[in-house]
Amino acid sequence: MQIVLLGAPGSGKGTQSQLLVKTYGVPQISTGDLLRAAVACGSALGLRAKAAMDAGHLVDDAVVLGMIRERLAEADAVNGFILDGFPRNIVQADALGKLLDDVGKPLQGVVLMRLDLGVLFKRLTGRRNCQDCGRVFNIITSPPGTPPSCTICADMPRLEQRPDDREEVIGKRLEVYEAQTKPLIEYYQGKGLLRVVDADAPMAVVFANIQRALLIAS
Ligand code: AP5
Repeated sequence: MQIVLLGAPGSGKGTQSQLLVKTYGVPQISTGDLLRAAVACGSALGLRAKAAMDAGHLVDDAVVLGMIRERLAEADAVNGFILDGFPRNIVQADALGKLLDDVGKPLQGVVLMRLDLGVLFKRLTGRRNCQDCGRVFNIITSPPGTPPSCTICADMPRLEQRPDDREEVIGKRLEVYEAQTKPLIEYYQGKGLLRVVDADAPMAVVFANIQRALLIAS
């Protein structure tokens, strides 16, 4: 499986990537997670990325492309990958196409997670992460106590909000999506790779929609 999950902030890319990882055993490669890890370890790259991320802007293409090249070369990506949050603009999509052509592993599909703006906003403002187990909750749609039980935080999550999930930053992120990422819909449509999925449904239903869209047997 070599796929991209494309969609606005909060459309459920990370949530669905996790379900795909569990079912198909290929890694989720999230540029957002890679960048947050760089920020957390305080590297020079992380410090540069943090300012852009906290303001809702995209991080430099050169930084992101360097990270992706390294990550795709790791052993666990040899049998496939789920790209989550990458590519984010035409420059990144062109670079990805070239990279995958060079290694003879072209994309098999690009899944567009379609969701209305109002729902996106609620999902982002309600998102909270557990500081101990990293699980993603939502104080509206999947609050603490939602199964499955956790052996790491013992179902007592210490919740934190991502700095870019503050209302004042969400607007900017959605603006950036409209201007820079949305053109990828036409780009991948032109390549015959785009599969559109209704993401406004319970998580399990969205997952089934993705499987159907990619014609993958569960
Ligand atoms: P990134 O981390 O990629 O954020 P994003 O694309 O904005 O996406 P999110 O993680 O916010 O949302 P999601 O679609 O994964 O939704 P989730 O599943 O969590 O990027 C962050 C920043 O890093 C960027 O702004 C940029 O600065 C930088 N960056 C990243 N990649 C870059 C790149 N390629 N180039 C340059 N810069 C880059 O779900 C959201 C909430 O909804 C959760 O609470 C979840 O529980 C809930 N939920 C999910 N599905 C459902 C459902 N079906 N029903 C009800 N609730 C649901």
